[in-house]
Amino acid sequence: MPRTSVITGAASGIGKATKELLEQRGERVIGADLHDTEVVADLSTAEGRSSLVDAVRKVSGGRIDAIYAVAGLDFPIAATAAVNFFGAVATLEGLRPLLKDSDAPRAVVVSSMAALFATDDELVAQLTTGDEAGAMARAEVLAKEPTTGGLIYCSSKLALSRWVRRQAATEAWAGAGIPLNAVAPGVIATPMTAELTATEEARTALLKQVPMPLNGIADAIVVARLLAWLNSVENTHLCGQIVYIDGGSDAVMRGDSVW
Ligand SMILES: NC(=O)c1ccc[n+]([C@@H]2O[C@H](COP(=O)([O-])OP(=O)(O)OC[C@H]3O[C@@H](n4cnc5c(N)ncnc54)[C@H](O)[C@@H]3O)[C@@H](O)[C@H]2O)c1
Repeated sequence: MPRTSVITGAASGIGKATKELLEQRGERVIGADLHDTEVVADLSTAEGRSSLVDAVRKVSGGRIDAIYAVAGLDFPIAATAAVNFFGAVATLEGLRPLLKDSDAPRAVVVSSMAALFATDDELVAQLTTGDEAGAMARAEVLAKEPTTGGLIYCSSKLALSRWVRRQAATEAWAGAGIPLNAVAPGVIATPMTAELTATEEARTALLKQVPMPLNGIADAIVVARLLAWLNSVENTHLCGQIVYIDGGSDAVMRGDSVW
């Protein structure tokens, strides 16, 4: 029987490339997004998150093999924290019960190397403690100033990476035989980065911030292949890893400070 995967953010960029890759490999994919997918659900709201779970339960018949939480926003607005953190966590936790009958259940989420940039301690704390009302209020404050708006995206991804580290080895995930991991891409050529990479000058400026000595800016398929492996039957022991697929920005920026 082919594996059944659920991919959020499946209408564009990395999610779309992953959906196409898995379908080429003969898997069944249930895509979810705001538009142009099997399941339409808005992950910025509690109602949208529960409608995702209800719709996937219905479409899948109650059994899936893998979850890909890919949907994300990078605007300097509060909704970015809602989608990137609470939307991703609700996807993973809400769909986890549907993995129960799989022979090889797997879950992966897309974080970012942006977690290495400056973040807002208060917002990260509210996100990691699950205080959505507090986090939204704090993000609204950050969104008011051009100098702090960018902290929302970076904070949402740092909190997401920490969530994966804290959850992956617990009874709910590792204890249930589910590898839970994240990827942290560098700059990937998708609609999200189209403006930032539109000209040679813009690309040079971006790569100064996000150094990618190995092969530079990547296409979405590069990340899709890693996501597909992390959620494949072959991956039996990776647990709670944040895999940087970033052309070397993590190695350049953090060096050996984490080892
Ligand atoms: N492109 C990059 O350079 C890069 C780098 C690091 C991390 N990422 C992360 O990769 C993931 C995919 O990004 P991408 O580059 O493919 O961007 P993209 O904009 O091409 O795709 C993101 C998708 O998420 C969907 N989405 C946004 N808000 C949503 C909501 N409220 N409910 C449901 N779906 C929603 C969008 O409709 C879109 O289809 C994101 O989590 C992003 O933060 C991207």
